[in-house]
Amino acid sequence: MHAKNVLITGGAGFVGCNAARYFCSRNWNVTVLDNLSRAGTDQNLEWLRDGTSFDFERADVCDRAAIDHALSHNRYDAVIHLAAQVAVTTSVVDPRADFMANALGTFNVLDAVRRFSPEAVVIFASTNKVYGKIASAVTELQGERYGYTDRPHGISETEPLDFLSPYGCSKGAADQYTLDFARMYGIPATSFRQSCIYGTRQFGVEDQGWVAWFTIAARLGRDITIYGDGRQIRDVLHVDDLLRAYEAAIQAPDRIAGQAFNIGGGPEQILSLLDLIALLERRLGKKIPLKWQDWRPGDQRAYVSDIRKLATELDWKPEIGLESGVIGLIDWVNEVRDLFVETV
Ligand SMILES: NC(=O)c1ccc[n+]([C@@H]2O[C@H](COP(=O)([O-])OP(=O)(O)OC[C@H]3O[C@@H](n4cnc5c(N)ncnc54)[C@H](O)[C@@H]3O)[C@@H](O)[C@H]2O)c1
Repeated sequence: MHAKNVLITGGAGFVGCNAARYFCSRNWNVTVLDNLSRAGTDQNLEWLRDGTSFDFERADVCDRAAIDHALSHNRYDAVIHLAAQVAVTTSVVDPRADFMANALGTFNVLDAVRRFSPEAVVIFASTNKVYGKIASAVTELQGERYGYTDRPHGISETEPLDFLSPYGCSKGAADQYTLDFARMYGIPATSFRQSCIYGTRQFGVEDQGWVAWFTIAARLGRDITIYGDGRQIRDVLHVDDLLRAYEAAIQAPDRIAGQAFNIGGGPEQILSLLDLIALLERRLGKKIPLKWQDWRPGDQRAYVSDIRKLATELDWKPEIGLESGVIGLIDWVNEVRDLFVETV
């Protein structure tokens, strides 16, 4: 079997650089494409260059000619499309830029795949935000955390789409284009509707990447603001578990083509904001001072992915436990703490 050629857009970001390292370690030929717009991407590239061999293209997914060029000079077995504007808050401030990067950018990637590499497995990093508020799910305070009363397995792919926020709209449009390019053009493309992904090399900020942000801020003594009561829950998934799912999808195109999958830690890997604070306090051996603010508009009390479809199709399940994942994150922050002066 020949070594696979994989293109990773957004490959200098958090998920992307971990993906590049992961697939390089499997001796695949990796091309990273990124416009380096996100803080921390230079450092991620530097980290990647130390010990792995890959091609790098600095390009913007909004630039059709550049994307055509990237796709036309190599025949890819897989395209992992991660490049995006990633924060809901930023999308509200500048919805056009969000649309360009997420909706048009994804269209450019898909359309180039259609013309130059139609057999490539495309994994689009979608988001649970495509389900919007999920008004039909009943949440209540259950002890110290919110939880669903009626969805023991979490939110499944049968949940109606309900885009809320420009980010929800742009990612949702891209999610649907991905599935439609599978139907219309036979491209083995899938939308992975990711919940909260965490892990090392995530230069989390308050508006995006909360697990990393809390860890970085707690370690460096920066202010942490809790919006709401801190009992809101999310299912969280370590990036290495996500990458195993990406690999399984690339190896089994027939099982994923044209389908959407919810992916996160599922009901077994749930954290409330205050759970994470308590875990960090335990591991760091100090009290973490908190600031409190009112709920932000649209904040969900709960989101938990139903991951049974993916688990069944790809024989996959999360393996990295919360405690060891967060310890890994703390170790990384200790290791690279000087970087945060520049990036966060
Ligand atoms: N991390 C999560 O919890 C999470 C959850 C749901 C979905 N996602 C999706 O997963 C993907 C990766 O997320 P991440 O956390 O690694 O984010 P990230 O911000 O670390 O990575 C995104 C990368 O895309 C690059 N980029 C942005 N705009 C670009 C453009 N126009 N052209 C080329 N490159 C561009 C950035 O420089 C960055 O390196 C994103 O599509 C995001 O929407 C992430």
